[in-house]
Amino acid sequence: MAVRAALVGACGRMGTLIIRRILATEGMEVSAAFDLVNIGKDIGEVVGVGALGVPVSDPKNLAEVLKSSKTDVLIDFTVAAATAVNAPIAAGAGVNLIIGTTGLSAEQKTSITDAIIRNNVAAVISSNYSIGVGVFFKLIKNAASYLGDEYDVEIIEAHHNQKKDAPSGTAKTAAEIISKEMGGKDFVYGREGVCPRGKEIGIHAIRGGDIVGDHTVMFIGNSERIEIRHQAHSREIFVGGAVMAAKWVVSQKKGVVYEMSDVLA
Ligand SMILES: NC(=O)c1ccc[n+]([C@@H]2O[C@H](COP(=O)([O-])OP(=O)(O)OC[C@H]3O[C@@H](n4cnc5c(N)ncnc54)[C@H](O)[C@@H]3O)[C@@H](O)[C@H]2O)c1
Repeated sequence: MAVRAALVGACGRMGTLIIRRILATEGMEVSAAFDLVNIGKDIGEVVGVGALGVPVSDPKNLAEVLKSSKTDVLIDFTVAAATAVNAPIAAGAGVNLIIGTTGLSAEQKTSITDAIIRNNVAAVISSNYSIGVGVFFKLIKNAASYLGDEYDVEIIEAHHNQKKDAPSGTAKTAAEIISKEMGGKDFVYGREGVCPRGKEIGIHAIRGGDIVGDHTVMFIGNSERIEIRHQAHSREIFVGGAVMAAKWVVSQKKGVVYEMSDVLA
């Protein structure tokens, strides 16, 4: 039986590409689509592949449309405030989740995780669905494990000028990985005025043009530095990973929140 996947944020940059990728993936079908725009239009027409017979639905009707469309998994690439509302509703409707939205607060993440466990569904939550970023995370963890406090850590990320949240979820995940490996560190976001450097991790966000997503971690010592960099050339890297995760999650143990590293393992 094909995996029936619905999209929330279906008409956005990521949603559009994910719909197209699902249609090209054997064993997957588009069951429903939700967005604040194009409500009532056929999602196939909206993403330029011709009519699919699947209308864009109002997210206010999320639970009932998920049930009537027999959706197995909901893929969410929207904004944090929307995901915080929609993910618990989907979990309550017994639907598995792939969450790509970034910028979720700690409280929002906790309440989404609680809903996933309470309703016994499976989910993948990842700030970055790219396979290359999975390797990048392993490389920075490894580097941090060798380096002591005499190395200062700075993270610089760059994204397109339409990105709403800063710093990126990937930069925050990178900082958390390094902090854990180095025994706990404070984070400082940008610097201005008098701000002598302590033992913090500095995190900096650049926004401009059409940059898909660059992340550089610098380990800076006296007389040397190591830079580890990932550069996304196209959103397709996130699309492939998110669709792979959606197909994978439906057959996993329920009541668990997985990471992209579990999907790739
Ligand atoms: N995890 C990853 O690998 C990854 C990769 C790329 C982007 N992202 C994240 O995905 C999110 C979306 O990125 P994008 O570039 O596609 O943005 P976008 O602005 O192009 O698309 C977002 C879509 O969500 C819709 N939306 C907003 N509020 C909604 C609501 N309440 N209900 C339903 N739909 C709603 C918008 O109308 C829009 O169509 C961002 O948080 C971004 O940081 C994550």
